[in-house]
Amino acid sequence: SNVACIRSLYSAGVIGRGASSSPSPSKICVIGSGPAGFYTAQHLLKARQDIVVDIYERLPVPFGLVRFGVAPDHPEVKNVINTFTQTANHPRCHFYGNVNVGKDVSVSELQQAYHGVVLSYGAEANRSMGVQGEDLAGVYSAKDFVGWYNGLPSCRELTPDLSCDTAVILGQGNVALDVARVLLAPLSILKKTDITQPAVEALVHSQVRRVLIIGRRGPTQIACTIKELREMVNLPGTRPEMKAADFAEVSEALKDVPRPRKRLTELLLKTALEVPGEKEQERRNKATRTWGFRFYRSPIEVFADAEGKKISGIRLAVNKLEGSGEGAQAVLTGEVEEVSCGLVISSIGYKSLPIDPSVPFDPCKAIVPNTLGRVQQAKGLYCSGWLKTGPTGVIATTMNNSFDTARSVVEDLNSGTLDVSTEKPGSQSICALLEQRRVKPVSFSDWEKINTEETRRGEAVGKPREKLLSVEEMLRVARA
Ligand SMILES: Cc1cc2nc3c(=O)[nH]c(=O)nc-3n(C[C@H](O)[C@H](O)[C@H](O)COP(=O)(O)OP(=O)(O)OC[C@H]3O[C@@H](n4cnc5c(N)ncnc54)[C@H](O)[C@@H]3O)c2cc1C
Ligand SMILES: NC(=O)c1ccc[n+]([C@@H]2O[C@H](COP(=O)([O-])OP(=O)(O)OC[C@H]3O[C@@H](n4cnc5c(N)ncnc54)[C@H](OP(=O)(O)O)[C@@H]3O)[C@@H](O)[C@H]2O)c1
Ligand SMILES: *[C@@H]1O[C@H](CO)[C@@H](O)[C@H](O)[C@H]1NC(C)=O
Ligand SMILES: *[C@@H]1O[C@H](CO)[C@@H](O)[C@H](O)[C@H]1NC(C)=O
Repeated sequence: SNVACIRSLYSAGVIGRGASSSPSPSKICVIGSGPAGFYTAQHLLKARQDIVVDIYERLPVPFGLVRFGVAPDHPEVKNVINTFTQTANHPRCHFYGNVNVGKDVSVSELQQAYHGVVLSYGAEANRSMGVQGEDLAGVYSAKDFVGWYNGLPSCRELTPDLSCDTAVILGQGNVALDVARVLLAPLSILKKTDITQPAVEALVHSQVRRVLIIGRRGPTQIACTIKELREMVNLPGTRPEMKAADFAEVSEALKDVPRPRKRLTELLLKTALEVPGEKEQERRNKATRTWGFRFYRSPIEVFADAEGKKISGIRLAVNKLEGSGEGAQAVLTGEVEEVSCGLVISSIGYKSLPIDPSVPFDPCKAIVPNTLGRVQQAKGLYCSGWLKTGPTGVIATTMNNSFDTARSVVEDLNSGTLDVSTEKPGSQSICALLEQRRVKPVSFSDWEKINTEETRRGEAVGKPREKLLSVEEMLRVARA
């Protein structure tokens, strides 16, 4: 039987120990256990004492992109896990891992069981470049590449080919810089992180010595932030390799831009154009690997070698900018350029997918259409996180927009717009459905067994954790 379910019914006072005397609770479920799911739950639990929150997660392990996205060399970012763990251990909160909503249970079944349903399942797909050759071997989406080095089970088989000298990354956001760092960072640094062991082994044998990070617009439109740029600039064993011509008009454009953009651009200019001091020059002379931005270039085609098996380069359209500032548009000049490379990683953004035909979905924006987190034309249905806003923003942004959604839920409870007058079965009926369908949820204490095992394996090799790489193994440890 479903141990996770029975255990939660006990602790919620539904069975055993005599039920509590308080009136029946408002039952809300959250779909997805990334930052959006956890921050929504946190705010709901705090706002009203009569709310219970159940979190359904597809994987046996929680935390979404905090586990499978955030770069292994950014451990401090993962401290939010402590807050999420407190939420998960709240007496009015329950976690059901290993439940794929849309497949194991439908959204309308959840709506029947709960007063309110919050969709916060993130953006699991990659945007497509829409260029010829993007399906060739040697072309990867950043989403898959990141998933591979971070142990996302569905990316386990990626085993990217790192036997080339030059790698091209398309897109200049923070994800692009994460990927560049992982490709170029000294193994002595990466080996001490929670990067997967297969990734460490592949990187030990990597031939990649040069990484070009290509943007369709100019230096003043670059999408990364200054902290991440500074990490590249200071990355041990590497030196920057830029093209002065790319920065021709930048100093002038600098006058009118907001301060964060100005500081970012100044660091770019300094890195690209300034003659380095003696110490920095010495550092650069010793470098064995290089990285650089290329601007005003859009991909047209990835092409293969004579045998048509391995990629040998990428054809780029040369752009010019129309307009200025953040909204400047790249327009084609008609000029074309080729860059030799053996690896292309497309880092032009993530994309949400619809998970259930009954839920409204905007295919153009790839989000669930909503007003302040209330799904349009769907009473009792809400959304938060990247599914609500699109795939941009740091964890703090996701936290803010998830709190906003939770506020909408609470407002609707207070106003009676969200009707809680009839009792709902909540996890009780969902667990019965799952049992019929032979789906066994993973509880939060089951996850803690996985966590303990991963930490133990990590300790043995000097890493904060050694992640389990397959769903099967996760389930085996959870049920041991
Ligand atoms: C590569 C990368 C690195 C990043 N690094 C940083 C960083 O260093 N610092 C920072 O502040 N921000 C970083 N971010 C941004 C941050 O990760 C996001 O803001 C945040 O994770 C978005 O939260 P979310 O909950 O909407 O989505 P997610 O974190 O993706 O969570 C969605 C969850 O839903 C689950 N799910 C999906 N489908 C289903 C389903 N059908 N049924 C049940 N569950 C489902 C998923 O398994 C996942 O656990 C990074 C993002 C990426 C892509
Ligand atoms: N350390 C951190 O804090 C950290 C780490 C990783 C991620 N994150 C956050 O997570 C979010 C997602 O990051 P991201 O890097 O995936 O997205 P992003 O910041 O939106 O960057 C996407 C990049 O892809 C380019 N691009 C988009 N469509 C393109 C196309 N069709 N052709 C060519 N280029 C295209 C964009 O250029 P244009 O500007 O021209 O559109 C931009 O350079 C961001 O908010 C990021 O800050 C944070
Ligand atoms: C990204 O996703 C699309 C599907 O939308 C796929 O066709 C494409 O090959 C993927 N990969 C890259 C590198 O864009
Ligand atoms: C989140 O909201 C707070 C308070 O409204 C604000 O000060 C902060 O700048 C916001 N953070 C982000 C990243 O949007």
